[in-house]
Amino acid sequence: MSQPDSLVAKIASLQNRQRYQELHWEGSFEEYLTLVRADPRICRTAFQRVHDMVVSYGHHEYIDSKKKVVHYPFFDDPIDNGKDAIFGLDIPLMRMVNVLKSAAMGYGTEKRVILLHGPVGSSKSTIARLMKKGLEHYSHTDDGRLYTFDWHIPKELSHVSGGAEVFADPMNEDPLKLIPSEMRKEAFAALELKSVDGAPLRIKGELNPASRFIFKLLMEHYKGEIAKVLSHVRVKRLLLSEKDRRGIGTFQPKDEKNQDSTELTGDINYRKIAEFGSDSDPRAFNFDGEFCVANRGIIEFIEILKLDVAFLYDLLGATQEHKIKPKKFAQTDIDEVIIGHTNEAEYKKLLSNEFMEALRDRTVKIDVPYITKLNEEIKIYKKDYNNQTIKGKHIAPHTIEMAAMWAVLTRLEEPKGHNLTILQKLKLYDGKSLPGYTEDSVKELRKTAGREGMEGISARYVQDKISNALVSDKSESSINPFLVINELESGLRTHSLITNEEQRKRYIELLQIVRQEYEEIVKNEVQRAISADEDAIAKLCANYIDNIKAYTQKERVRNKYTGQDEEPDERLMRSIEEKIDIPESRKDAFRREIMNFIGALAVDGKKFDYRTNERLHRALELKLFEDQKDTIKLTTMVSNVVDRETQEKIDIVKQRLIKNYGYNEESATDVLNFVASIFARGDTKGTK
Ligand SMILES: Nc1ncnc2c1ncn2[C@@H]1O[C@H](COP(=O)(O)OP(=O)(O)OP(=O)(O)O)[C@@H](O)[C@H]1O
Ligand SMILES: [Mg+2]
Repeated sequence: MSQPDSLVAKIASLQNRQRYQELHWEGSFEEYLTLVRADPRICRTAFQRVHDMVVSYGHHEYIDSKKKVVHYPFFDDPIDNGKDAIFGLDIPLMRMVNVLKSAAMGYGTEKRVILLHGPVGSSKSTIARLMKKGLEHYSHTDDGRLYTFDWHIPKELSHVSGGAEVFADPMNEDPLKLIPSEMRKEAFAALELKSVDGAPLRIKGELNPASRFIFKLLMEHYKGEIAKVLSHVRVKRLLLSEKDRRGIGTFQPKDEKNQDSTELTGDINYRKIAEFGSDSDPRAFNFDGEFCVANRGIIEFIEILKLDVAFLYDLLGATQEHKIKPKKFAQTDIDEVIIGHTNEAEYKKLLSNEFMEALRDRTVKIDVPYITKLNEEIKIYKKDYNNQTIKGKHIAPHTIEMAAMWAVLTRLEEPKGHNLTILQKLKLYDGKSLPGYTEDSVKELRKTAGREGMEGISARYVQDKISNALVSDKSESSINPFLVINELESGLRTHSLITNEEQRKRYIELLQIVRQEYEEIVKNEVQRAISADEDAIAKLCANYIDNIKAYTQKERVRNKYTGQDEEPDERLMRSIEEKIDIPESRKDAFRREIMNFIGALAVDGKKFDYRTNERLHRALELKLFEDQKDTIKLTTMVSNVVDRETQEKIDIVKQRLIKNYGYNEESATDVLNFVASIFARGDTKGTK
C-alpha cells in the first residue's frame, strides 16, 4: 500500500482512472453491436476516419489572389503545440484533403496511393508524420474510437488456438467482420445498423486467415451455432500507435538487394510450425508485415519510388484491390490509407520507367512545393529559432527574415515581360501592394510561372546555416543577418544539390539583393530611432519658429546663449525646408502659412504643436536625423574618442533600438556602426 503522501501516490493522483477505463473498454460481441448502433462512426473505413480526423479540427476559408482557399487547422499541429506545423501550403493540403474526402465517399481515390511529390525538404515527411500522429491521437478520442477483438479460448478447446487462452486478432479487424460476408447485408438490416451517412452499413472483406481459421474450427466444434462461436469473442478498444506498430506503419526501402516482400505481408513463424505441424497453418504465421500492421490506419512509404520491383505487385494489389497476399495464404483484405512520398529527382526517373507505369497509374500525385510567400517561410525559422528557444545568443532583428527572403528568392522565376524586379515580385506574392499591380496581375504572375516552388533552396539548408551561425565563434552574444548571409554564401560552395556554376552564381547574386534590401531596412530603422527624440524635435521646432517669426516680421532673433540679437538663421530654416522640397521661390509663402496657422491658434488661446502639421513634422524629423547622423558617423570615424555629449546621444538611440525594435546591446551597436558606415560612404539615399 502506498502512503497518501508517498511519491507513488503523487503519480497516482495525476492519473485519470475513468479515461483509462474508457480506453481499455472490453465487452461482448453483443455489447459491441449496441455501441455500433448508437454510434456508427465506430466502423468507418480508414479513409473516412482519416478524413474526419483532419476536418474535426475545423476549417476556414479565405481568398488569396482571387482564389478561394481552405485552411485546415489540423496542419498547424494542435496536438503537439505546433511542432510539426505546415506553413504556406494550404493549396496542396486542400488538394490532399479533397482526395481523402472522395476516398472516404468511395469515389475511387481510395484505390490510389496518395503520392506526395516535391523537391527535397518541402515538408513531405512532415505532412505524413502529422497524418500518422493525428490518427493515433484521434483513435484515443471518443470521436475517433474504433474496436477490434480477441478470441478467448478455454483450456478444453486449446486445439483451436494452439494452447493460447487469449488469441488476439492479428490484423486488428473490426469485430463486425466476424459476421460471415454472405450474411452481413441481412444481419445489418435486421440489427438496423446504419453507416455514418444513414445508408445501410457495409463492411467489406473477409477476416484474415488466422481468425477465419479459428472461426471455422469453432463452428465445427459447435456444429454451426454461430452464437456460441461469437461468445468466445471479446471486443476491445483499438488504440492506434506507431510505436506499438498498431494501425500505423512505416516502410522504408533499404538497400535494394536486401528487400524482401515478407516485410510488407508478414512471414512464417518457424518456431510455431512445429507446434501446428504445417507451414500453411495461419496460426503459425506472423501477420506483422507493414501492411498487416497498418490495417485500419495509415501506412507511409518513405521514398516509395525506391521500392524494389518485387514489392510492386504487393503494393499494387494493396492499393487497387485492398488485398495483400501473405506467403502460402489466400488474399487477405486490408483497409488502410496508403501514403507515399518521393522527391522530384526520383519521380523524374520514374517517368521513363515502364515497370513503374502501373504504379504511376494508381497514384494521385500531390505536388508539395517550397513556400513562395515570405511571411510563411519566416514562420518555419521563427518556430525553431527565437529568443525563447535559443538561450545565450540573441538573434538580431531581420536575421531570420533575410535568410527566408533569400530562400524564397531562389525559388522564384525571374519575372518576364514585366517591368518588375524579382524582389518586387517576392513582395507582391507576400501580399504587399505595388503601384500598377492588382490582385489580377499577381494571379497572372503566378500562372505564368507554373513550376515555381519546385526548385530552389530548401528550408533545411537555411536551417543548417542558421545553426552554424549560432554556434560560430564569430559572434559573441548575437547573430545578425550578415553572419547568416555569409554562412549561406559559403555553404553554396559545397552544396551537393547545386549542379551547375550558373545556378550557384545566381544564388550568390540573390544574396547580394538581400544584402541591399537589408541596408535599406536598417537605414530606415536607425533613421526612425534617431528622430524619435521628441524633446530634440520640439527644441528644433521652437528654434525654427523663432527664426521664421523674426524673418516674416523683419526682426532680429535673440541668441539664447550670447544674449545678442542676430539676423534670422537662413541656413537653419532652409535646411529644414529643403527636406520637404520647398523651393527657394516658395519659402516666403511657406513661412507665412506657418505663422498664420500659429496666429489663428493663438486667437483661440491654443498653443502650436508641430505634430498637427504633418509636413513640418516630417521636415523636422529629417533635419534632426541629418544632424544626429553626423554624430554617429563621428563615432566610427574617430572611433575611440567620443565626447560625452555625443556618447549620450548615441546611447539614447541605442536604447530606442533596443526598446522599440528588439535589438540587444551588441546588435544595436553593430547596426549603428553599420548604418554610420553607409553614410560615411556618402550614401544618403533613403534619408528622405
Ligand atoms: N511548408 C513548410 N512548413 C513547415 N515546415 C517546413 C515547410 N517546408 C519545409 N519545412 C521544414 O523543412 C524541414 C524538412 O522537412 P521534411 O523532412 O518534411 O521534408 P521532405 O519533403 O520530406 O524532404 P526529403 O525530400 O528530403 O525527404 C523540416 O524541418 C520542416 O519543418
Ligand atoms: Mg522526407
